[in-house]
Amino acid sequence: MVEHFLEDDSGSLREKVILLDFGGQYSMLIARRVREAGVYCELLPYNTTWDKIKNHKPAGIILSGSPASVYDEEAPKCDPAVYEGGIPILGICYGMHLLAGDLGGEVKKGRRSEFGRTSFTIDEPEPLFKDASFYDENFCFGWMSHQDEVLKPPPGFNVLARTENRTVAAIGDHQRKIYGLQFHPEVFHTPGGNSILKNFIYQVCQCSQTWTPGSFIKDAVAKIRSVVGDHKKVVCALSGGVDSSVVAFLLDKAVGKRAVFIFVDHGLLRLDEAEEVAILYKKGLQGQFIHVDAKERFLNRLELVTDPEEKRRIIGNEFIAVFKEHALSMGDIAYLAQGTIYPDVIESGFAQGAAVIKSHHNVGGLPEELGFELIEPLRELFKDEVRLVGAELGLPDSILKRQPFPGPGLAVRIIGAVSSVKLLLLQKADAIFRQEVYNAGLEHELWQYFAVLTDVNVVGVKGDDRHYGPVIALRAVVSEDAMTADWARLSHDLLEKVSTRITGEIPDVARVVYDITSKPPGTIEWE
Ligand code: XMP
Repeated sequence: MVEHFLEDDSGSLREKVILLDFGGQYSMLIARRVREAGVYCELLPYNTTWDKIKNHKPAGIILSGSPASVYDEEAPKCDPAVYEGGIPILGICYGMHLLAGDLGGEVKKGRRSEFGRTSFTIDEPEPLFKDASFYDENFCFGWMSHQDEVLKPPPGFNVLARTENRTVAAIGDHQRKIYGLQFHPEVFHTPGGNSILKNFIYQVCQCSQTWTPGSFIKDAVAKIRSVVGDHKKVVCALSGGVDSSVVAFLLDKAVGKRAVFIFVDHGLLRLDEAEEVAILYKKGLQGQFIHVDAKERFLNRLELVTDPEEKRRIIGNEFIAVFKEHALSMGDIAYLAQGTIYPDVIESGFAQGAAVIKSHHNVGGLPEELGFELIEPLRELFKDEVRLVGAELGLPDSILKRQPFPGPGLAVRIIGAVSSVKLLLLQKADAIFRQEVYNAGLEHELWQYFAVLTDVNVVGVKGDDRHYGPVIALRAVVSEDAMTADWARLSHDLLEKVSTRITGEIPDVARVVYDITSKPPGTIEWE
């Protein structure tokens, strides 16, 4: 057994690559790529002390990129003891400049933050460029930033690759197993980048493939059991979304009948969705399933409310109130299982001063005041991993591939005050749009696609009469992570079909428009 296996609380052995995050825009992506390759990767802030890093027993350490230059006065630095720990290191972009400078090399100040595709040739294929699928007569492409550059590698290092104009593209000290890349292997635009990362984790760090959905489920179930013990009960809020569903099925596997699932139906889901997920939960879970029909209650609280933030606040609070009533009435519950995922953990711990454009209330984000101990089995997982775990647990695609849906539901897709009449109208229009996108085979190509009920009434002609009615806006976007999004270039034929069906099948609707605003400057939702 290799030394870098770490035994966790449940007694399982796991290997870990630590990613020191210097604030680079691709840090999370690097971690995802390492995990996709089969090894668990965890982000730590760049200034984590070596003593703390050491406790993780890392098999390897990656130093991320950064918007900073090593020449900045406040340039982020890692604990220099990291270089002396005998653990393999890979510095990516800023990470390479930093280690090169720290270890006695020469780094030249370059231009800032310009990225581009750059070709490079390989001087030494072993070990990073070994068997790389993109390896073509030593001529490769990498996605590089033209920031600082390594002029002279530190003592003990060789230049492993260089660009056409002789800029250093990769360096390595084979003895100490410390490597650096000027380009980003994690981005899609670097062909073969995944092979480089795999070579680092398997050839250099000597990892074995220990991170799989199956191994995660085994560990998570063991951990939940060891925390909850043999008698206590756990409650879990279900929303129909991927995260809460995966938590529920994990929990069910771990504690079975001692799990209580509460599905607060706020009436703001899409057409027939509440009934569909309720059937799935009822059938698939052994624990107690409570379906709370709270539609009237939410509608009453939302009456005449037009401000989107106020809607979010009311829905969030009401959700907690309903959940609390039912959870507390169960009497002997000790734990609350929640679907917090890794990006939430990182963002709450790492993000500083990011502008709040609008508050995002995840219905289901329940506060500590409930008095239950928290269990968050997905804290370590990225969204894609949650889906893989869900698939392994046997969840259907209708849940796993469901498009992101805001916690406050259709309330933030009805501009102005919400009413049951408007809700039904929007549900019908939205269902038509979704069905036609599905018929066109586009449902997995789009990040989100939905209808919005605007508060604009316009004139139209229905039969021989003038007719005044609301405008339905269609929104469809492509995106990687919802941080930015491009409006989807849906075909005119598809848009025409949707428009004809909506105005034909929903007599009230006078007009249908298509939103061609990207994010930024728009946001994905209208409210
Ligand atoms: P925006 O509209 O900010 O949305 O571009 C980005 C992503 O977040 C979703 N969204 C929400 N999700 N509660 C949620 O759980 C909310 O209040 C909320 N508002 C927006 C949105 O659907 C998109 O996926």
